[in-house]
Amino acid sequence: MFKEINIRDLKKSPVQMISDEWALLTAGSEQSFNTMTVSWGALGELWGKDVVICFVRPQRYTYEFMEKGDTFTLSFFDGEYKKELGICGSKSGRDCDKMKETGFVPVKAGNGVSFEQAHTVIVCKKIAYQDMSEDGFLSQDIKNNYSNGDYHRTYVGEIQKVLVKE
Ligand SMILES: Cc1cc2nc3c(=O)[nH]c(=O)nc-3n(C[C@H](O)[C@H](O)[C@H](O)COP(=O)(O)O)c2cc1C
Repeated sequence: MFKEINIRDLKKSPVQMISDEWALLTAGSEQSFNTMTVSWGALGELWGKDVVICFVRPQRYTYEFMEKGDTFTLSFFDGEYKKELGICGSKSGRDCDKMKETGFVPVKAGNGVSFEQAHTVIVCKKIAYQDMSEDGFLSQDIKNNYSNGDYHRTYVGEIQKVLVKE
């Protein structure tokens, strides 16, 4: 159902995929995982490796799974699933069953978890993290994102596999 491709053969701009179309960030195992919508992130190179960089606030349930495991996935969907992505981005897995609410069907993807409905999945191995702090923010505009002091934890994931729907 999915075939593996090289990250360099992605058909779309990563900016369009993450920023405009959004993605699901999923961490954990098939037995126990959580997923949430993200639209802030980056794909590129760091330390000589192809990487995904994503940003997770500490209060997210997904954060707990990001901390526990060493694999995470980014899953991308066609526009018809924007409503479901809205649900995964507004409700917490602590309070509801996102699979029941969206109809997304979990599937194994490399060492991680993705969804049958995804058109593209990037499987990553967590290789680094770092918490943001206000010291480096150069404008009030950026500081305004953190009026609660809930600075994102930045996760760097080395890309292990890129899977696309056949
Ligand atoms: C379009 C969109 C993008 C989002 N991007 C992020 C993000 O990059 N980082 C983050 O921590 N939260 C982000 N969120 C918020 C989480 O998806 C949201 O708080 C979610 O309910 C967390 O679920 P959880 O508690 O089950 O982990 C985004 C929400 C939406 C709707």
